[in-house]
Amino acid sequence: MSDVTATAPWKALEDHRDRLESVSLRQLFTTEPDRVSALTVPAGDLVIDFSKQRLDTPVVQALLELADTAGIAAAREAMLSGAHINVTEDRAVLHTALRLPRDAQLIVDGVDVVADVHAVLDRMGEFTDRLRSGDWRGATGQQITTVVNIGIGGSDLGPAMVTRALRRFHDGPATRFVSNVDPADLTAALADLDPATTVFIVASKTFSTLETLSNATAARRWLVDALGEDAVANHFVAVSTHTERVVEFGIDPANMFEFWDWVGGRYSVGSAIGLAVMCAIGRERFAEFLAGMHTIDTHFATTAPARNAPLLAGVIGVWNASVLGYRSRAVVPYAQDLARLPAYLQQLTMESNGKSVRADGTPVVCPTGEVFWGEPGTNGQHAFFQLLHQGTEIVPVDFLGLARSGDDLPARDGQTSMQVLLLANMFAQAKVLAFGRDADEVRADGVDEALVAHKVMPGDRPSTTILAPELTPSVVGQIIAFYEHQTFVQGVVWGIDSFDQWGVELGKTQATALQTVLAGDEIPDTGDASTDHLIEVYRTLRDG
Ligand code: F6P
Repeated sequence: MSDVTATAPWKALEDHRDRLESVSLRQLFTTEPDRVSALTVPAGDLVIDFSKQRLDTPVVQALLELADTAGIAAAREAMLSGAHINVTEDRAVLHTALRLPRDAQLIVDGVDVVADVHAVLDRMGEFTDRLRSGDWRGATGQQITTVVNIGIGGSDLGPAMVTRALRRFHDGPATRFVSNVDPADLTAALADLDPATTVFIVASKTFSTLETLSNATAARRWLVDALGEDAVANHFVAVSTHTERVVEFGIDPANMFEFWDWVGGRYSVGSAIGLAVMCAIGRERFAEFLAGMHTIDTHFATTAPARNAPLLAGVIGVWNASVLGYRSRAVVPYAQDLARLPAYLQQLTMESNGKSVRADGTPVVCPTGEVFWGEPGTNGQHAFFQLLHQGTEIVPVDFLGLARSGDDLPARDGQTSMQVLLLANMFAQAKVLAFGRDADEVRADGVDEALVAHKVMPGDRPSTTILAPELTPSVVGQIIAFYEHQTFVQGVVWGIDSFDQWGVELGKTQATALQTVLAGDEIPDTGDASTDHLIEVYRTLRDG
C-alpha cells in the first residue's frame, strides 16, 4: 500500500500544523469572517458545527485532498455496492443495505439482499406485534411483560443504547440487557422477574461467544427449573447468522431471526440484532429509526465533499489524532437518554480502527484509532471537564445537544426551563474550551493576583457541536450512521480494514484455555510467571 504520510496533502497538513501552532481560535474567527457558515454542515436533521476545530480553510482543503488521494470515493462506492472490502475476512460490508427502502434492489454475490432484509424485518414485525399485543403467550398462558436481551459487544451495545435513547417511545414490554459473563449481571437482571412472563432474545452473530452462551445456558436453566423443558419454545428466540448452532442450543429455527455475515457486529443494530428495540418501540418506530440511518447514508453517498458531514468529521478526526497528536476524543451528549452512546461508540470506532497493520498486513504509517470516551453532560462537567479545560492533555470533544426535550418542565415561578439550562451548559463549555480567558480578562474581573494563573483558561481546545431537534427514532438512527461513516472514512485514510477484529480473538482463546487451569488444582504452568502467581493468589483467596 502507498504511504499516506508521503502524499502531498499530508505534507501540506504538517506544514499547516506548524503554521497554526501560534494562531489562536480567536484569531481564526477574526480572520475568517465566513468561518461559521463554511464549517457548519446540515445532514438530515442534524446540524454539525466544526468551526471550533483547530483548522482553517487551507487545512480543510488539504484534508479533502487527502481523502481524495486515499480513494474515498471509490472505497465508498465499493462498500455501498457490496464489494468484499473486509479483505481479511473476504466479506462485503453492507450495513447500509439494512436500511434501504423496500422498493430498492441491491444484488450482491447473486442475491437481492434488500428482499432478504425486508423478509426478516417482516418476520420481526410479526413477532413483535404478537408480543406487544399479548397474542404471544408464555408457557403458562400469561402475557409477556419483560424481554431480556442476552448478547455482548455489537449484540448488546447497539440495542441497549438505542432502547435507552428511545425511552420516551417505549410502549412495549420492559427490556433488560445482560452481557457480562460476570454472574452478577444475569442474577441482577432476573432477580425480580417471573419466568412465566419473560422472553429471552439470545443475540449472537456467531452463536459461539462465551459470554452469551454462558448467560443463555444459565437463563435457560432458570426457566426450565420453573416451567419445564417444553417452555423453551415460548420463552426463547434467537438472532444469529448461524442456524445450526441455534438449533444445537435448543431454539426452534422458527423462532430465529436471521442476519448475514456482511453485517459487522458493531454495525448490526439495524439488523435483527435490533429485535429488542423493536419489541420496545414497535415496528413503525423501528422503520423510522432505519429511515433515519438511510437519510445519512444518502447524504454520505451523494453530498459534495466540502459539505459532507461524515467525511468532514472523519478527516478532522485524522487531523486531530494523527497530525496534531490529540489522541483521544470525548463524546459528551447533553441528553441523559444518550447515556450509553459513548460506550456504543467505543466499540464502533475502537474495534474498527484500533489497528497497527493496514489492510495488506503492512504496519500503519501514523497513529490510528482515536480513543473514544465520555459521559453525558452536565454530569461530565463535574467529573473530567477540569482536565479538558486546563489539563496538559488536549482532548477534542463532540458535544451533542437537542433543541427540544419531551420531558421538559415549562418555565414556572422564575425557574428557567431545565432543557434551556442543559443547553446553556453545553454551549458554555464549547465556548470556554475554544476561546478561553486570558490573564487580562481574569484581572479585569478583580481576581486576586495570586489566583490569576489558576483562573486563566488556555482556550484553543477543539470541539464539534452536533445539534438535533429532538431525540426521535430517526434522529438516533442519523447519529449512529453519522459516526459509522466517519469511522469508515478514517479507516480508508489510514489504510485499515475497519471491519475485522482479530485483536479480540486471542484474548478469547486464552480465556478458554485458562478457565480449565483456574478451575483445577494443579500447579499452574501457563507460560508466564505473573499469570502463574496470580492464579495461585486467586486460589488462596477463593478458598478463604
Ligand atoms: O468483541 C468481539 C466481537 O466479535 C464483536 O465484534 C461482536 O460484536 C461481539 O464479539 C459479539 O459477537 P457475537 O455477536 O458473535 O456473539
